[in-house]
Amino acid sequence: MKDLLRLRTSLTEEIEALLNEQIKMEARSSSIYLSMSSWCDRNGFDNSAKYLEKQSGEERGHMLKLFRFVNDMGGKAISPEITDIPQEFDSFKGVFELALQQEINVTASFNRIADRCFKAKDFMTFQFLQWFLNEQIEEEYVARRILELFEVIGEEGTGRWQIDKNIPGVSYGE
Ligand code: FEO
Repeated sequence: MKDLLRLRTSLTEEIEALLNEQIKMEARSSSIYLSMSSWCDRNGFDNSAKYLEKQSGEERGHMLKLFRFVNDMGGKAISPEITDIPQEFDSFKGVFELALQQEINVTASFNRIADRCFKAKDFMTFQFLQWFLNEQIEEEYVARRILELFEVIGEEGTGRWQIDKNIPGVSYGE
């Protein structure tokens, strides 16, 4: 039965599995951003906490976009199990260093999936992925600009307070 159903979709098992891994990665990103938000809140960085909570919501949105696509294409979207989310971070700057690294990892993962889609001639999924690749330009940009605040403002004295105050204003394309 599974094979017959499989014949009725253009989504290959390989691409479906890769998309399900990406669903998990986005869910994990969402959870990590939320734990970063909690850490910032507990340590007095209220603006960063709000920014990271919003980011967590965006990652959940990314997860759902992928999730719906897999089912819409006749595949089986898997609700991911997420464990081992770090709850403590070394420093305020460390939170944003990790955020940038996380975004770079997500970009690399989408590039890998796009490459597989291209090789498998799955141009529907390839086209669907373009939205995420565009989104990554913005996400990496913002993460880099936030880290620049640490260099430009400096962390001494009221520096961290100033950095926290400036974080909500960092945006792409304005
Ligand atoms: Fe969904 Fe920030 O990548």
